Amino acid sequence: MTDYTQLIEKAIEARERSYSPYSNFKVGASLLCNNGKIYTGCNVENSAYSECICAERVALSKAVSEGECEFLAMAVVGGKSEIVDFVYPCGACRQFLSELCPPKMEIILYNGKDTKSEALDGLLPCSFSKSNIK
Ligand code: THU
Repeated sequence: MTDYTQLIEKAIEARERSYSPYSNFKVGASLLCNNGKIYTGCNVENSAYSECICAERVALSKAVSEGECEFLAMAVVGGKSEIVDFVYPCGACRQFLSELCPPKMEIILYNGKDTKSEALDGLLPCSFSKSNIK
């Protein structure tokens, strides 16, 4: 497996910038582009709870808004005070990623000790896509 140490470190750093006073659950994500650039995101919450945005969607939106369109891997980390469990992207983020990232893109998860990798299409099989609305 590719060494995703740097990508995971970037997700851990981004997590420190989480704005999550309501859940106190801090998430960081980092997205590796084909050109080697890494874009990061953290969850940003709001007193109007439905306006909270997840770390993964922040990272992908930052990348796309800078003109990136080819993606290789995303790392995701989360936890209240420490990172102790694997945190998987929520359903909304899986759908959001599936629009713009390759189906086989690796989602790298880290629980503070071990790393695991899941393909995006393994996390969201049979996704709704633009081919459905042609
Ligand atoms: N969260 C993420 O940032 N990514 C996910 O995939 C799951 C959940 C955030 C949203 C909210 O700010 C906090 O974690 C608790 O749900």
